Amino acid sequence: MNKGIALITGGSRGLGKNMALKLADAGIDVIITYKSAETEANEVVKQVVALGRRCAAISFDANATETIDGFVTALQNTLHEVFGADHFDYLINNAGMGATIPFLKATESDFDSFMNVHLKSVFFLTQRTLPLLNNGGRIINISSGTTRFCNPGYAIYASMKGAVETLTRYMAKELGSRDITVNVLAPGAIETDFNNAAVRSNPEMQARIAGLTALGRTGKPDDIGGIIVFLCSPESYWINGQRIEASGGVNL
Ligand SMILES: NC(=O)c1ccc[n+]([C@@H]2O[C@H](COP(=O)([O-])OP(=O)(O)OC[C@H]3O[C@@H](n4cnc5c(N)ncnc54)[C@H](OP(=O)(O)O)[C@@H]3O)[C@@H](O)[C@H]2O)c1
Repeated sequence: MNKGIALITGGSRGLGKNMALKLADAGIDVIITYKSAETEANEVVKQVVALGRRCAAISFDANATETIDGFVTALQNTLHEVFGADHFDYLINNAGMGATIPFLKATESDFDSFMNVHLKSVFFLTQRTLPLLNNGGRIINISSGTTRFCNPGYAIYASMKGAVETLTRYMAKELGSRDITVNVLAPGAIETDFNNAAVRSNPEMQARIAGLTALGRTGKPDDIGGIIVFLCSPESYWINGQRIEASGGVNL
């Protein structure tokens, strides 16, 4: 049974890919975006289709917010052509990049690119896609454990994620009249390509984070996708305007 259509930004790799596969497994059709990894994105499309769901990939550069209107047009065309639909149901603002930039060394250019990707694009992509999001739909913004605890070098990144957490509460307040819920999922350290695979490729960092984590390890993409499925399910309807951290209990 078709349970709706999800749009996941940054679905070519890492957490977004896992979300796409878990949502497809739960009966939800998926549109993913990618910035440059078109081959990987097409592979995710194939895997979703193999699960019996419809899927499409659209390019989107969150650092180029002037392209958002063009993206919305591409989204409308994809909805018509691939899904025979005018609207979608779930928006997962996931696309993002990481870098370790000490506060004293950060440049305005660093600040602006993190602001564009992690905050400005979330704000305006959501605003401009809202006419295409069904009433009763869901928005899930991906934040980070680093808004609750501090990792040196993450000042810009975590500031933008913190702003998205505040934005989430405002979205929830203003979109409740359309029966749309808006929540934050904040992962802890997960072994993906993020920040040059800082966690996945560094056993010492993994051991350090594992030692700070109640469940005794770092996260895997597979720890995240199922939470998104839950947040898109009817059972999670009453959770609204909330920050849910998925970190195995780090720095408790
Ligand atoms: N991994 C972690 O430890 C961790 C922890 C907390 C929060 N997060 C957050 O989780 C989200 C996903 O991270 P991840 O670990 O899955 O990272 P990842 O494996 O590096 O994947 C990043 C995804 O975002 C896309 N992307 C990167 N820059 C983009 C841009 N400028 N415009 C549009 N799309 C862009 C990538 O597209 P291409 O493949 O085309 O490059 C890819 O699909 C991010 O918001 C991140 O901040 C991650």
